[in-house]
Amino acid sequence: MITLLDRASRPLVKRILNIYVRPYAGWVVQAMLWMVLAAAMSAIFASLVQPVLDDVLINHKDHLVLPLAIGVMLCFVLRGVATYMQTVLMNRTGQHIVSDIQNHVFGHLMGLDIAYFHKNASGTLLSRLTADTSVMRNAVAEGLTNLGKNTLTLFLLVGVMFWRDWALALACFIIFPITATFVSKLGKRLRKLSTRTQEGLAEMAALLTQTFQGIRQVKAYGREGWEVARMKSKIDDVRNLNIKNVRTGTINAPVNDTLVGLCVFGLILYGGHEAREGSLTPGALMSFITAFLMSYEPMKKIAKVNNTLQIGLGAAARVFEIIDTRPTVISGPEKPEMPNPSVRFENVIFGYEGGDGPALDGANFTADAGRVTALVGPSGGGKSTILNLLLRFYDPQAGRILIDGHDIKAMDIGHMRGHIALVSQDITIFDDTALANIAYGREGASEAEVLEAAKAAHAHEFISALPNGYQTRLGENGVSLSGGQRQRIALARAFLKNAPILLLDEATSALDAESEALVQESLGRLQAGRTTLVIAHRLSTIKHASRILLVDKGRVAEEGTHDTLLARGGAYAALYARNQLGGQVAA
Ligand SMILES: Nc1ncnc2c1ncn2[C@@H]1O[C@H](COP(=O)(O)OP(=O)(O)OP(=O)(O)O)[C@@H](O)[C@H]1O
Ligand SMILES: [Mg+2]
Repeated sequence: MITLLDRASRPLVKRILNIYVRPYAGWVVQAMLWMVLAAAMSAIFASLVQPVLDDVLINHKDHLVLPLAIGVMLCFVLRGVATYMQTVLMNRTGQHIVSDIQNHVFGHLMGLDIAYFHKNASGTLLSRLTADTSVMRNAVAEGLTNLGKNTLTLFLLVGVMFWRDWALALACFIIFPITATFVSKLGKRLRKLSTRTQEGLAEMAALLTQTFQGIRQVKAYGREGWEVARMKSKIDDVRNLNIKNVRTGTINAPVNDTLVGLCVFGLILYGGHEAREGSLTPGALMSFITAFLMSYEPMKKIAKVNNTLQIGLGAAARVFEIIDTRPTVISGPEKPEMPNPSVRFENVIFGYEGGDGPALDGANFTADAGRVTALVGPSGGGKSTILNLLLRFYDPQAGRILIDGHDIKAMDIGHMRGHIALVSQDITIFDDTALANIAYGREGASEAEVLEAAKAAHAHEFISALPNGYQTRLGENGVSLSGGQRQRIALARAFLKNAPILLLDEATSALDAESEALVQESLGRLQAGRTTLVIAHRLSTIKHASRILLVDKGRVAEEGTHDTLLARGGAYAALYARNQLGGQVAA
């Protein structure tokens, strides 16, 4: 059936076979043995029709009645058992293969750059891992289960036809090339159609996740009706494509049925004549017709498998596209000790993909070890970009970034990030217990350590007051937290990680006075002795920093302490006068 695959699909099939099917070769071989048995039983039954008719029904050879009856019965029993065994084995193989692919794709995705996740909507990726792999599962299971069995059955039944009357068999054969061409044409069309369907599904998933994530905006701006209408058009698109899919996929039924009908018509006319002439016994003719009609079933199934296969190959191509995406941020080999983790940017130039102009345009600065360095400046100046590059979420196009004198590009990424704790504005609370949410900060942390971190972050009091204490579920399916509580969870994570470098993106939203005091107090303790880079919005943070960097247009425009910068009367002093140090209005 490999002839039904176009040239472009072959590497894809080879790849699936070599990498994903090979580990299950044992099961596949077992299933194939059962498959041979099932196909043989079909062919034997078709051949038995001749002695049943000629010897038992016409010539009354009584001693053959019982053996033939048992033989026919055995054919069916064995075929049933063999089909069951083969289907179960092949299906198990298919399920394993697809879960292997899913694990592989997810593992690979986790290693890809932040930039990749910016380029691809999370809904699209979600649909690659679910909808596309489920289509692949069907293709693999169907392909493995039905393709071999039906091809072999067809082959054997055609053999029976030739054995009974080769000339007649040859005549019937004109329909095979016709159907085969038709089936392969159809397969290609289906594959295109289904690619569009899967893309539609991916778009739908992307839109859904976006809408759910932005549900507060939707409601606040009263756009529910608009969202419903927008979603309806996507849903309807997918429905129409699905309908078209089924219409295209089933068109082979009437076409094939007509062809078979024509053949049977011819067979009865011609065969009736031959039987009268005596060159073909009635049993032989019936056996021929039985084999022909029985061969029609596997033929239909092969056409159907081809459709599923084409659809699955389309999905496989999309899934492999993810696997073939290489990360651009590559880990280095070095794992240096960094006892004095100062941070240094040397002429760093960096532009986001698709961004207009560089976000950092020759950034130069040093953040001293164990001190607090505050980043201030107008919105869009490049403050967040500095933190992104230090974490190696992206690599700069030029320049170097050093921690304690070591180029971060040469370092093992895990080792390097292990030295940095990030407390960003957008705090993710995972759908898990309070304990697990804090323990996320460091793999393998003990419960006592988590509690200690929670106490240091002033999170212990409110967590203890939750219905199930530290075992209370937070996040989407659990208790919702206030802004201040979320921040304290984030701080607890950072305390637990106990990294020498601390990156803070200070929250702009004002907390109530009590939360604010608690957060500030624990922040102060968290910063003690650590190299801290803080994107500062609060004047108190800025004033206490040992060095202030004014980041504007991708460069460090001014640097110094609050007092020296004010005395200088430059851009910093101007921003301070307008109360706009932190990009937003500084509190
Ligand atoms: N993911 C991105 N893709 C493309 N451009 C980006 C991306 N993130 C930021 N930029 C651009 O890079 C520049 C610097 O942005 P950055 O986020 O570093 O500014 P910022 O100083 O943190 O501003 P703010 O105070 O508003 O947070 C801006 O021009 C911004 O539009
Ligand atoms: Mg920012």
